[in-house]
Amino acid sequence: MFNYYSSLSSEVYDLDKHIGRSFGDVEFYTERLAKFEGPILEPGVGNGRILIPLMEKGLKVDGLDISKEMLDRCRRNCIERDLHPNLIQGNMESFALNAIYDAIIIPTGTFLLLHRRDDSLRALSNFHDHLKDGGRLFIDLILQKDRTVGKTEIRTWESGEDIITLESRLTEVDEVHQYSVSHHRYEKWRKGKLIQTELERFPLRWFGIEEFKFILESVGFSEVVLSADYQYGQYPTKTTEIITFEGIAAKKK
Ligand SMILES: C[S@@+](CC[C@H](N)C(=O)[O-])C[C@H]1O[C@@H](n2cnc3c(N)ncnc32)[C@H](O)[C@@H]1O
Repeated sequence: MFNYYSSLSSEVYDLDKHIGRSFGDVEFYTERLAKFEGPILEPGVGNGRILIPLMEKGLKVDGLDISKEMLDRCRRNCIERDLHPNLIQGNMESFALNAIYDAIIIPTGTFLLLHRRDDSLRALSNFHDHLKDGGRLFIDLILQKDRTVGKTEIRTWESGEDIITLESRLTEVDEVHQYSVSHHRYEKWRKGKLIQTELERFPLRWFGIEEFKFILESVGFSEVVLSADYQYGQYPTKTTEIITFEGIAAKKK
């Protein structure tokens, strides 16, 4: 019944969060990763919005994503710029690569798409296993401010001669297990006729700030630094801020 980051959803992502768009994250990650010589992994790479500018700065970045449609878009966006990264289809919780990374980055709240606690813990352990001793993990989280069931938003984009609309409705909030579910209804219109639709179930987890820091430490990440709205080391003060958690993977000797 439901799709997930499928054809229309990926098209909209590429229109809305196109290559070149930054929320401050492109500059932040470019600066934080500038000295990294070894490979970097971006799970949930999407259309390559972050991967592409990092590669253009000379960094070696692999991308992993669960969605074939998103990876196809990422590949196309890379080829247009003569970039040829290693793009892997897989999920964060269980991927197993024959590679060890200097850094793993998950910007833009993508990590919250793992709405079940067990999946997020498995993903963090998996990231730890794929990092070298002293390697760094960067995860951006957002805080969910308005969790009113029934809240609906409609957005519209133009794509050539077509119009794409997205109606997003919050359908479920599980306060005990800390996640919400929205239904995304995409519609593509051409000359007043509906030519494509897609329904997406979109769960999103939330964490407390100190809770997430504690979880990172319990999985084996040390010296966790928080940065609010991409200001390095600035502890969050507002619920609207994007919070980057940066930790070092300490390996057991
Ligand atoms: C919000 S987009 C982020 C794209 C890009 N990182 C950026 O910052 O613009 C989230 C991406 O995560 C992918 N994704 C969702 N759940 C995933 C999972 N369990 N494992 C791997 N990728 C996943 C989606 O397919 C989608 O491409």
